[in-house]
Amino acid sequence: MSMQNSNHMIELNHPELWREQCLYAGKWRASSNGETIAVTNPASGAVLAQVPKLSSSDLEQALSAAHKGFNYWRGLIAVERAAKLRRWFELMQEHKEDLARIMTAEQGKPIAESRGEIDYAASYIEWFAEEAKRGYGEMIPAAKSGQHLLVRPEPIGVSVAITPWNFPAAMITRKAAAALAAGCSMVVKPASMTPLSALALAYLAQQAGIDESVLSVVTGDSATVGKAFTESRLVKKLSFTGSTEVGRKLMAQCAPNLQKLSLELGGNAPFIVFDDADVTLAVKGAIAAKFRNTGQTCVCPNRFLVQAGIHDKFVAALKQAMSELKIGDGFDESVKQTSLINAAAVDKVKRHYHDALAKGAECVLGDAPGSLPHNRVAPILLLGVTDQMQLWQEETFGPVAPIMKFSTEAEGVELANATPFGLAAYFYSQNIDRSWRVGEALESGMVGINEGGISNAMAPFGGVNQSGFGREGGRQGMQEYQQLKYLCYGRAGSE
Ligand code: SIN
Repeated sequence: MSMQNSNHMIELNHPELWREQCLYAGKWRASSNGETIAVTNPASGAVLAQVPKLSSSDLEQALSAAHKGFNYWRGLIAVERAAKLRRWFELMQEHKEDLARIMTAEQGKPIAESRGEIDYAASYIEWFAEEAKRGYGEMIPAAKSGQHLLVRPEPIGVSVAITPWNFPAAMITRKAAAALAAGCSMVVKPASMTPLSALALAYLAQQAGIDESVLSVVTGDSATVGKAFTESRLVKKLSFTGSTEVGRKLMAQCAPNLQKLSLELGGNAPFIVFDDADVTLAVKGAIAAKFRNTGQTCVCPNRFLVQAGIHDKFVAALKQAMSELKIGDGFDESVKQTSLINAAAVDKVKRHYHDALAKGAECVLGDAPGSLPHNRVAPILLLGVTDQMQLWQEETFGPVAPIMKFSTEAEGVELANATPFGLAAYFYSQNIDRSWRVGEALESGMVGINEGGISNAMAPFGGVNQSGFGREGGRQGMQEYQQLKYLCYGRAGSE
């Protein structure tokens, strides 16, 4: 069946997944003042849908319902919460194709990558459905005779999430599933550019039997929602994925109410290729990590450091592989690179590109950004890059691979660590001693060693330094939504 909306047709097997209302305070609702936000296709600019621009009072209502939802949800036993999460996971799998199509329509990523993201997103729900049953506490040897000391992890309370446009499903499930597994309720504010995936996920959660007051999705203007979330005494935890600049502001806003925070912020990932690397593997890893989501990923390599002895060989192989990446429409199954999210994203790539050329970089592959229609940018390979260039200092968030040559291992590691950020880092070497040494020396929350695909539900995802704090996924992911209670039991009677 096809879904006809404002200006665009998208084929869906289950058109009910296409939602233009928010799920909060127990039901699907528009904004009380009727205001909306247009959701557009990043390639054509065509309006896909209108979603509510909720007012402060709508948001207050959502949070107060979430508070009631928390009191109900925390009272369920863990296996009951786990069963509902498991059902949500199964429904995502059953609706994978529709969810992928909604994602490609609003975000633009290649349809195969959207399917991959639905699997990735669902894997967090499966993981946390299992973790829900493992919220173990601890018995502590007593300090005095007759005492019993116990530590009990408890759900922290109403939690809120502010999620980005680059992974419209996975960045929600890895927060929401962890929160729900811990016994918290959650209110999610998806990016205004990609709310349709979030609303479809909320619909499936509702179908899975997760109460509407336990998981809500609210759309609206970022400043209004951020203010409502951080000023509410009902909110105990905020999880944010996005820029370091916004993360800092949210942290300041959370200070008066001392809300617990997880911040997954910007990166500036190094990708080091040592002389003893396997070039075929290194190129495969570079393509997978750099060109995923057309370079719009926080863990994308942003700086390639290649040792002198392997430089020319690696560059030739990478150039060949990059030239084979087909650019086009996300719904074309053969396409690997699609439109950037908007014209501002293209402008940033353009600024980085011209700054690098002006400072002496050589472009050996790719056209000047801005020369293709539909916000597309062909993969760009730059050589002779220096640390004085903007693209070395800031995340480009586009399909640009800048390469710097280095001589010794110590120099490579020093250059890699010369950034205030520390989300992901990658390196390739077949020397086992070097692998241990460099793995430990890199200042980063995550390190891929001979591996370009590091993200999965089992491992703790997160950064250090200006890339933020807190971990998502892994057994640590649920702890972000728990607080510890220490219980000291004395004797009940004097005998
Ligand atoms: C991100 O870009 O923030 C997330 C990427 C991932 O989960 O691998």
